[in-house]
Amino acid sequence: MTESAQSDSNVQTTISTVCCGLRALDDSMLTAECPAKLNVFLEVLGKRPDGYHELETVMLRTSLCDQLSIRRTSGSGLSLRFSDATPAHLRAGVPLNESNLILRAAEILRSAVNIPEGAEFILHKRIPPESGLAGGSSNAATALLLCRRFWSVPVSDLQLHSMAASLGSDINFLLSGYPAALCSGRGEQVREILLGRDLYFVALRPKKGNSTAEVFRGTILEQDLKSSGQLVDQLRQARRADISAVMFNRLTAAGRQVNAEMDQLICRLESVVRRPVQMSGSGSTVFIAASTMGEARQIQGIIRDRLRLSSWLLEVPRAAVIQS
Ligand code: C5P
Repeated sequence: MTESAQSDSNVQTTISTVCCGLRALDDSMLTAECPAKLNVFLEVLGKRPDGYHELETVMLRTSLCDQLSIRRTSGSGLSLRFSDATPAHLRAGVPLNESNLILRAAEILRSAVNIPEGAEFILHKRIPPESGLAGGSSNAATALLLCRRFWSVPVSDLQLHSMAASLGSDINFLLSGYPAALCSGRGEQVREILLGRDLYFVALRPKKGNSTAEVFRGTILEQDLKSSGQLVDQLRQARRADISAVMFNRLTAAGRQVNAEMDQLICRLESVVRRPVQMSGSGSTVFIAASTMGEARQIQGIIRDRLRLSSWLLEVPRAAVIQS
């Protein structure tokens, strides 16, 4: 373990035991889900000397998942391929070489504990890249968990979180296994929010994705900062309530500017659904909050009938899936 990983105490130190649903088919292969996240609140507090932005963001773990498997191989190399069933449009823009976060995560863990074994990863993609849903980050979080279990290495939750923070800003939340969290710092400092009820969202994505770095670059920092307090209070309540009015994303204006197709999609959705439409993270996924599953289906129906667009129904169960 590297010293910086051990001494970094600014990150979440535990991983929920219900995280990820790790399951082994036999001792040569292990599979787990990689959930997409939604940001229901995101305020940019300022720019940091390291070039990143200080955030206050509320992230939710959704039912839309990639699936990642790790398989034993005879060699010492690490490799990655798509599942045969991964559609072509979801493969575009996802590198399979050592720049992919899955292989970077595996390599960091492997070198920290001196594991000579190789492995093959098989990725079944459902989360579109450049969507603001943290598909790549979720793949990395799951890769860390899979590797620790598959190689049975003595790496603590704290060490795994330090590795996650060194790889990206959203990985710690996805590693935590929490259904909801208030995240700060670059996004890597995670505090659980105990959800009072299940949540439902209808989400869509224009064809074009957004570059996170470009959206952050285009964001104008404000003096008058929004707080997530009201939203967090509402999320804790068991009573059904419409959270639309208290959702917020400071990156939206810049996202709309860099992606005219997403801008138009938001306008069209607002005019037919007549509810607030929110961008997740740096986009380009946009979503609408619903109070019940039935209401979410109704919204999906309106979008299908009036705009001829298909959408995802994203559920956020208040408790994560029990690990088998
Ligand atoms: O951490 P991650 O790799 O997801 O970030 C991608 C890019 O988004 C960073 O290189 C940076 O330009 C921008 N970013 C930022 N502030 C954050 C998170 C991301 O400026 N808190």
